[in-house]
Amino acid sequence: MGRVISIISGKGGVGKTVSAINIAACFNRAKKNAVLVDCNFTTPNVALSLGSPIVPVTLNHVLAGKKKIYEAVYKHYSGTKIVPSSLSLKALKNTNLENLPRAIRDLKKLSDIVIIDSAAGLGREAMLSLENADDVVIVTNAEMPAVTDALKTIKLAEQMNKNVLGVIVTRVRNDNKELKMENIVNLLEKPILGIVPEDDHVRESIMVRDAVVHTKPRSKAAQSYGRIAAKIAGEDAEDFVSKNFFSRLFRR
Ligand SMILES: Nc1ncnc2c1ncn2[C@@H]1O[C@H](COP(=O)(O)OP(=O)(O)OP(=O)(O)O)[C@@H](O)[C@H]1O
Ligand SMILES: [Mg+2]
Repeated sequence: MGRVISIISGKGGVGKTVSAINIAACFNRAKKNAVLVDCNFTTPNVALSLGSPIVPVTLNHVLAGKKKIYEAVYKHYSGTKIVPSSLSLKALKNTNLENLPRAIRDLKKLSDIVIIDSAAGLGREAMLSLENADDVVIVTNAEMPAVTDALKTIKLAEQMNKNVLGVIVTRVRNDNKELKMENIVNLLEKPILGIVPEDDHVRESIMVRDAVVHTKPRSKAAQSYGRIAAKIAGEDAEDFVSKNFFSRLFRR
């Protein structure tokens, strides 16, 4: 049985989808059997960001009881596996979110790691991501509104007895308008899994519909995601990045 890791934030637009895509890509490159599920049903972005906006079978078909979960698994050309949600509002109407736990359970039988990209906020969609998680990874920016929402998310996750692995602080500019990392740790009382800098290579990677760990493996953002993925996998970060990972990616 696989393990489900939900990537969630509270605040919108902080970098959840970018983080989920890059962590999934790192696991795939490290030959782990991982799949990334888009549980942001109202505004799904995973397939869009990986160049497959329209696919014949989506998670919505599975939740509508029309298809099996294995029929909704797609492989990006890099090898990263994804389960997309539909962009269509009509498909959303027929989607029965009550069926999500069963779909995730079925996916756990097929994969070692199921990564969930969550919706913003703490409404029903985000709560479903938490409910279906074994482990939770919080994404925030180094700004008070994002950190406050991250704290609420952590409290909710803990009330639900979920294991909060730690926090990714992303889009970090290192200027005097940001909270310091020690303040973020003090406020959230969770370890920081990694700090991802503001890096234009991330936006470039979205333009070419791939993860930055593939398009610019030597960039600062890519290197951070490599170390974060290693920590989530419980492996030595430097080893994971230098030996298994970026040397191979670089030759790709
Ligand atoms: N490290 C980074 N450097 C520069 N830009 C970034 C970085 N991470 C994310 N971005 C940009 O920030 C924007 C928001 O990122 P993303 O879509 O991952 O956020 P999100 O939390 O998933 O948003 P939503 O809550 O809407 O789902 C994207 O347009 C992306 O280009
Ligand atoms: Mg998103």
